[in-house]
Order: sequence, then C-alpha cells, then structure tokens
Amino acid sequence: MTRPVTPFWPLEIWSAWWDAWGSAPYVALLRDSNQARALARLHATAFARPWDAHEFERMLCERSTEAHALWKGGAIQGFVLSRKAADEAEILTVVLAPNVRGGGLSHKLVREHLAHLALSGVRTVHLEVDEGNAPALKLYARHGFQQVGQRTGYYARADGSRATALTMTASLS
Ligand SMILES: CC(C)(COP(=O)(O)OP(=O)(O)OC[C@H]1O[C@@H](n2cnc3c(N)ncnc32)[C@H](O)[C@@H]1OP(=O)(O)O)[C@@H](O)C(=O)NCCC(=O)NCCS
Repeated sequence: MTRPVTPFWPLEIWSAWWDAWGSAPYVALLRDSNQARALARLHATAFARPWDAHEFERMLCERSTEAHALWKGGAIQGFVLSRKAADEAEILTVVLAPNVRGGGLSHKLVREHLAHLALSGVRTVHLEVDEGNAPALKLYARHGFQQVGQRTGYYARADGSRATALTMTASLS
C-alpha cells in the first residue's frame, strides 16, 4: 500500500527547520543601550582592561557611535563598535564570544559593519590592533586594512608586560 501524499511537512520536520533557522547567526544594528551589560560581559572575555557597562551605555547613546551585534540563538555573541567623525571612522573594538571564535563569523560582522559605514558616508576607517593578535590581523587584512604605523608598548597585558599596537587604515571608496 502506498503512503498518502501530503502537501504538508510532518511537525518534526517543521520543528527541526525552525530550530535551525531560529539559531542561524545574523548581524543587526545595535542602538539599544539596554544591551550595555551584554557588551561589557563579552568585552571582559577578551581584554585585560575591559570597559564597564556604563561606558558601553554612554557610547551607545552617542550619535557618533555605530555598532553592530552578531546574534545567535537569541543572544548577542559578538559586536563591533566604531566612532564616526565626518567621512572617517575608527573601529574601537570587535569581540566575539569565546565559544563562537574561530568559525569565520567575525567576517560577517565586520563586512556588514563596513558596508553600513560606507552607506553612511564614511570613506576611511582606522583601527589599532595588538601586533600579536593573529586572528584579528587576518580578519582586518581580509577586509582591506593595511598597516600605516605602530605604537610600541601601547597595550598593557594581563601579566603586566606591554604589547605593540599596529595602526591600520582601510579605504571604503
Ligand atoms: C579577533 C576576533 C574577532 C576574530 O574572530 P574569529 O571568529 O576568532 O576569527 P575567524 O574565525 O573569523 O578567523 C579570522 C581569520 O583568522 C584566522 N585565525 C583564526 N584563529 C587563528 C589563530 N589562532 N592563529 C592564526 N590565524 C587564526 C582564520 O583562519 C581566519 O583567516 P582567514 O581570513 O584567512 O580565513 C576574535 O578572535 C575575538 O573576539 N578575539 C578577542 C577580541 C579581539 O582580539 N578583538 C580584536 C581587537 S583589535
């Protein structure tokens, strides 16, 4: 006996599809200062001198700040935050949660952020990065950043030593 053909997917297939779709990572503009604590928590996973929630709240309220969040599974798993001035911007920080690092999601986050900056009239983007931060250097190189200078001993490491910062610039036009 042949099984009846049904135009509808069984409930389990819908449910599996919905779970997969619902947890797919996506990037969205971040304007809600209520997310400041989530940003501070993520920032503290990566930096020896993390910025606190008040600092993020203040930045998110400033008109010159542009930020994007990487959402996955209903939570912010990463963000990038820039400050704009005229047709220039500076990326102040990019962070992914430790459990999602190494999967290429930073490319999606930075690509969408730079595209948004370009649309809002930014032509040149600057940043600083620890010369020993290989994933970040690869990420920035992939998005067109080139080294334009360096600052010896610029960063304080958790162990008390100092690290050199590379200054990088990308042209969006
Ligand atoms: C920097 C950061 C955002 C990069 O995100 P990520 O998800 O870890 O990196 P990705 O998986 O997207 O990889 C980026 C590139 O680095 C490479 N990479 C990843 N880990 C690496 C490692 N340990 N050593 C060398 N290269 C590495 C990847 O192969 C990839 O190269 P590709 O562009 O040629 O494909 C993330 O590691 C992070 O949040 N780090 C802590 C915060 C930080 O350092 N921010 C930057 C401050 S300026």
